[in-house]
Amino acid sequence: MAQVLSQIPRYKHPEVLVGYDTADDAGVYKIDEERALVQTVDFFTPIVDDPHLYGCIAAANSLSDVYAMGGTPITAMAITCFPEKGVDLQVLADIMKGGAEKLHEAGVALLGGHSVADPEIKFGYSVTGLIHPGRIFTNAGARPGDVLVLTKPLGIGILTSGIKFNKTSQEAAQKAIEVMSSLNRSAAEIMMRYNCHAVTDVTGNGLLGHAFEMANASNATLHIDAGKVPYIAEAYDLAKAGLLPRTVASTWKMIQPFTEVSPDVPEPLKNILLDPQTSGGLLISLDSKDLHGILEEMSRSGVQAAQIGHVKPPKGPRILVQ
Ligand code: CO
Ligand code: CO
Repeated sequence: MAQVLSQIPRYKHPEVLVGYDTADDAGVYKIDEERALVQTVDFFTPIVDDPHLYGCIAAANSLSDVYAMGGTPITAMAITCFPEKGVDLQVLADIMKGGAEKLHEAGVALLGGHSVADPEIKFGYSVTGLIHPGRIFTNAGARPGDVLVLTKPLGIGILTSGIKFNKTSQEAAQKAIEVMSSLNRSAAEIMMRYNCHAVTDVTGNGLLGHAFEMANASNATLHIDAGKVPYIAEAYDLAKAGLLPRTVASTWKMIQPFTEVSPDVPEPLKNILLDPQTSGGLLISLDSKDLHGILEEMSRSGVQAAQIGHVKPPKGPRILVQ
């Protein structure tokens, strides 16, 4: 995507506060001194068999980019590809019901949508939110001395590929679905009350890929304490058995020249750090003085947050995993 976007001319709009020239979660357009629009779109092929859950997860995932910037999502439009023949239309109705429930939970109004006939099902939303022009969180701004917090456990990509090959236990699949369908809303609302300097949500590039983008945008080095990173336990055994989504290798190839992983970090754990997440948690860089308060508040709100590292001045590799 970055390769394509680099070819599109940069027409200047003074109202564009965050555009497509940075690897950020959503774009931001200023309306007046108090308000800006934050917009994002995301859709993907079914990640679970249950249509209702697929809809829930698609909604939570699409809303996440707005939360990651500190915005409040207000409206959504559904976007779908659905086969003309061979699949019961009731399946699409169930997907949309699941999505609508999640949007309702988030207080977001569904305004409409668009569908295209296509042999492969795809579903998601374009989401619009409101944000204060002076309070926009991006992946730039991580400062040396900051601590890094992650708000959901990893392992989603590995566990969902395991589901396809019947290798994931019922229990772990259930846990993965819970994690994917939970909103990043509470985590985002809490982070707004603290001195957070940079935020992104962890999705297709895995923790290390998104940490790398943050390190680059912030001109800093991110230290990740591999042993502190939360993940759904069963992902480790599946990773050890070599059950890895394709992007684990491609993300590693992309960041390897700028990344140093200690030999003490076992290979399956390293691969969990690269595992692509659907509707993953927020990666937050914040003032170390705020660490205790934010973790306590998140834990009270049922957010499984953990400190997973810290930020150093830019020296040597962009990412250090120990
Ligand atoms: Co994102
Ligand atoms: Co996105």
